[in-house]
Amino acid sequence: STKPIVLSGCQPSGQLTLGNYLGALRQWVAMQATHDCLYMIVDLHAITLRQNPAELNQACLDGLALYLACGIDPNKSTIFMQSHVPEHAQLSWVLNCYTQMGELNRMTQFKDKSQKNQSNVNVGLYAYPVLQAADILVYQANEVPVGEDQKQHLELTRDVATRFNNIYGDVFTLPEPCIPKDGARVMSLQEPNKKMSKSDPNTNNVIGLLEDPKILTKKIKRAVTDSDEQANIYYDVAEKPGVSNLLSLLSATSGNSIDSLVGQYTDKMYGHLKGDVAESVVNLVKPIQSEYARIRQDLPYLHEVMHQGSAKAREKASETLAKVYKAVGF
Ligand code: ADP
Ligand code: NA
Repeated sequence: STKPIVLSGCQPSGQLTLGNYLGALRQWVAMQATHDCLYMIVDLHAITLRQNPAELNQACLDGLALYLACGIDPNKSTIFMQSHVPEHAQLSWVLNCYTQMGELNRMTQFKDKSQKNQSNVNVGLYAYPVLQAADILVYQANEVPVGEDQKQHLELTRDVATRFNNIYGDVFTLPEPCIPKDGARVMSLQEPNKKMSKSDPNTNNVIGLLEDPKILTKKIKRAVTDSDEQANIYYDVAEKPGVSNLLSLLSATSGNSIDSLVGQYTDKMYGHLKGDVAESVVNLVKPIQSEYARIRQDLPYLHEVMHQGSAKAREKASETLAKVYKAVGF
């Protein structure tokens, strides 16, 4: 097909949040109409941190089932486990030899992660961005949805690909970052100045996509609001981060614009807004949760999806790897 190729993936770690859904997964689903999509679970990247093998295995299946429950369709997209496509690791080795230590030394994510995890600063953690480059380049991807923290890695991918192309001719397509349209940024419920994150130890900040609707509702009702003199409802991220986050949650989950919501809520109380946010979030997650429960227990189906996905991925990946091997003289 002539559609642009898009590649993305999530780590098989932790529970995805409503932020991950609204900011990423929902966009991935929408892109199936306009792009040739590849969505993976990045299990090779996951072992840069020490994992419990049985838990990692289950987390991979959880992630896959969640992709499917959210509406990623194996008949439209290529859905696979990174480790099932050996070409990622094979290309990654070649790219290691065209990446300078100095370039990796500058990666801020490596600096952060190695600071936080000083007992296990392994070579995989260091070469993590090179594996990411291989993930992208092996499919000749045109677009990669990236958050702020991944921009540096995509820049590196482009630099390495350009270096390789300059030596060997046009082997790799240069990927562009794409900022998904309408991707809401969801902030933490108790600390609305920082983004909601699955790795946040304060679970009251986080809305889990698979969390019990009763618990979600409680958390939303206890979200911090802003204590200015009049408890007015309007959108102002700097002055009223809590209320603004609730408004943008309601907008993203209901499809109503923030402007129209502000009009509706001018004379209402915070409690009223919170109740409506909770209801809207629950309406959004409930069908995903029931689909997830159904799919997650259907192991034969999950295995079939993985098997077909990796076979499809390998067709493209092996083509690129053959070009690369030929270029370097193998
Ligand atoms: P987390 O911080 O939850 O671990 P990641 O950093 O792994 O999330 O990001 C996974 C994807 O989800 C990225 O595409 C990122 O842009 C998106 N994402 C993560 N948190 C949010 C959020 N709070 N609001 C919107 N999008 C988010
Ligand atoms: Na993160």
